[in-house]
Amino acid sequence: MNNKNPELHIVEPIQWKEDHIRIIDQTFLPGREIYQDIFEVGKVWEAIRSLRVRGAPAIGIAAAYGVYLGAKDLPEIEIVDLHSEIQRICEYLSSARPTAVNLQWALDQALSLSDSMQGEPAEKITSALLDLARDLHENDKQICADIGIAGQELIPDNAAIITHCNTGSLATGKYGTALSVIYHAHLKGKKIHVWVDETRPLLQGSRLTAWELEKTGIDYHIIADSMAGWVMKSSKPDLVIVGTDRVAANGDVANKIGTYSLAVLAKHHGIPFYVAAPKSSIDLNTPTGDDIPIEERQDDELRVIGDQVTAPEKAPVYNPAFDITPHELVDAFITEKGIIRPDYTASLKQI
Ligand code: MRU
Repeated sequence: MNNKNPELHIVEPIQWKEDHIRIIDQTFLPGREIYQDIFEVGKVWEAIRSLRVRGAPAIGIAAAYGVYLGAKDLPEIEIVDLHSEIQRICEYLSSARPTAVNLQWALDQALSLSDSMQGEPAEKITSALLDLARDLHENDKQICADIGIAGQELIPDNAAIITHCNTGSLATGKYGTALSVIYHAHLKGKKIHVWVDETRPLLQGSRLTAWELEKTGIDYHIIADSMAGWVMKSSKPDLVIVGTDRVAANGDVANKIGTYSLAVLAKHHGIPFYVAAPKSSIDLNTPTGDDIPIEERQDDELRVIGDQVTAPEKAPVYNPAFDITPHELVDAFITEKGIIRPDYTASLKQI
């Protein structure tokens, strides 16, 4: 049985500091723990776009604070119609990244709050926007803990688990989604071994997930993404758990590129494939995975690693940041409301 208490080691990637947010800049991890103080909406956009803050729930939280920071900075003289200005700020923040629905989910709440307060004094509206951001932030911590607890019925003692990308505290308010399930198993005293997919091209697995697991004292090995099939065949892990950036109404799952391959491999090897998803990642307005916008990122993410050039300078590149796993490959969703099984069109609607 492990004797470290993960509670003591869990990082909070976003903190509210009286008049600004402080984020841990994830682009420097694991080498350096650098914090950035952000006072203005433009810097929030940049931090989301550049993956300084990343992971679906975390970018929703950052965006909610961003709306407040943008609204409070509006010059008084220009506020003829505050609601339209807030709408503009939300559209701007929404353009930072297209796939994770949590971003739009948080912005929609800010918008509907501002809509419901039209005509009230600007100060009252901006202060309500800050309260909203702080509530979303606090609620996310509880939601992530609930996901971790709900997932326990799927995790045996001595479980070997494959995971992909980073779905931990760094990707949320605290604890994470898929990684929260692993943390809570560890808290319960279950012995866990995690196979951490490196997660090319930006290495969220080896840079961030391994960093988190190391801090909490959970056993792990990093594997290159291309090794997952062989690990499944030779080591017979018990399950795969991943997170998601958006679940369509039929249960199709958008997640970090490489998730689809993992799901196909899991099916072939008869290994259960689970997706941890807060309700804020479930988008009933998007009918299927075909309707989810997939972010494509810069070519150099595949041509350069750090300072090292790894491809011809102008080599053509295709770099989708996410893929879609069809719902048939998902054995269950782990949500804050419990375990959700097929038929997803019906069961997702119910929660
Ligand atoms: O590009 P990223 O690093 O923001 O991608 C993150 C993921 O794909 C996570 O798996 C997803 O957001 C779920 S994490 C709670």
